[in-house]
Amino acid sequence: MREPINTREPISTREPISTREPIKWTPNTMPHFDGGLSLANLLSREEIEKARAFHRSIPGYLATPLAKLDHLAAHLGVRGIYVKDESRRFNLKSFKMLGASYAVARYIAQRLDTDIAELSYEDIVSPETREKLGQITFYAATDGNHGRAVAWAASRLGQKSVVCMPAGSSLARLENIRAEGAEAWITELNYDDAIRYVKQLAERDENGVVIQDTTWPGYEDIPGWIMQGYCGMAEEADEQLRLYGEDRPTHVFVQAGVGALAGAVQGYYANTYGEDCPITTIVEASAADCVYRSALANERVRVEGEMNTMMAGLACGEVCSLSWDVLKAKASFFVSAPDWVTARGMRVLAAPLRGDESVVSGESGAVGLGLVSIVLTSPDYADFRAALKLDEHSVIMCFSTEGNTDPEAWRRIVWDGLCPSY
Ligand SMILES: Cc1ncc(COP(=O)(O)O)c(C=O)c1O
Repeated sequence: MREPINTREPISTREPISTREPIKWTPNTMPHFDGGLSLANLLSREEIEKARAFHRSIPGYLATPLAKLDHLAAHLGVRGIYVKDESRRFNLKSFKMLGASYAVARYIAQRLDTDIAELSYEDIVSPETREKLGQITFYAATDGNHGRAVAWAASRLGQKSVVCMPAGSSLARLENIRAEGAEAWITELNYDDAIRYVKQLAERDENGVVIQDTTWPGYEDIPGWIMQGYCGMAEEADEQLRLYGEDRPTHVFVQAGVGALAGAVQGYYANTYGEDCPITTIVEASAADCVYRSALANERVRVEGEMNTMMAGLACGEVCSLSWDVLKAKASFFVSAPDWVTARGMRVLAAPLRGDESVVSGESGAVGLGLVSIVLTSPDYADFRAALKLDEHSVIMCFSTEGNTDPEAWRRIVWDGLCPSY
């Protein structure tokens, strides 16, 4: 096993760059586009149902809770605020296994020349399948959660995994990945270069397969399967919302790194509700706001360099093309949010109003709720509040996509007040 190279101080423990940096937002003013095949085929109801059936066949699979924050909603002047709590997704503390496990399963089904609908989890992890396929090594680049999920899926198949992390990654997250049996280390590269690096490693390995959540020419199947896996989270949240007596959210806030998650969530709502789709806001870390910049430019724009943000899962400079098509066609607003927004969201969720439950939300999980809490109260964002049409009838859905995946960093923010709002 290689030793981690960690020449830079972990990003999460550095002081914030600026707590005064404003939130930037833009409506989607890009010319009409219908979302193409990504929306029509990739994220169709049939595909979403196939992914969900696979997930349900995993022993121990349970829906994660949907927190109903009534007191916060009353305090902020809206009808409802709901937060999907992905800290409780297996013992992995993030939503990422929904994508990685399904992509690995689809890859195995393809190698066996079988439709995934014909294969259960038991078939996929069986010794017979292992024998038929021989040894495989799954490669991934990650800030933590995706790599942990790939390592988890590989170890269930009795296969190997190799995971590379960008410079400044958290040692706690590295250890989590190694605990799932992967060979993992921290590189000196940024996230997008770490992807190129694992791709090269896999090309040199005759049994190597890259499981990555972003596309490049000729590499679209696996990221597409990952997106299909993520749709289950949005559908679970919808089912739980109905149990609480609401038909559907009026507003959805979802965060983006490479955008696979945001594209999947947006695609789910657009395909489920059509013309009646909730107002959606795609939220990024300002240090890595490639989707926001792409929306302004009406073409995919890259962010380069170090991307210094505590939102490690969102520190990605290139938007996934499959997702871009969906977001370009259907997203309502794009936001570039500084670190203090997510730090506030983490604290609001950890220390709720009396009567609301608390949610342990990590740096990449809390930015949507942080944004909601600011936009509904701060005079600085009254114009954005009005554009969003947020009022006492609004039912807001946020996705807390990770728990305290780096517990020490979480405590520095929530207990010690790192990165204050004002
Ligand atoms: C906790 C968390 N939330 C959100 C995201 C963003 O997902 P995507 O890169 O698909 O946009 C990530 C990505 O790693 C993540 O780890």
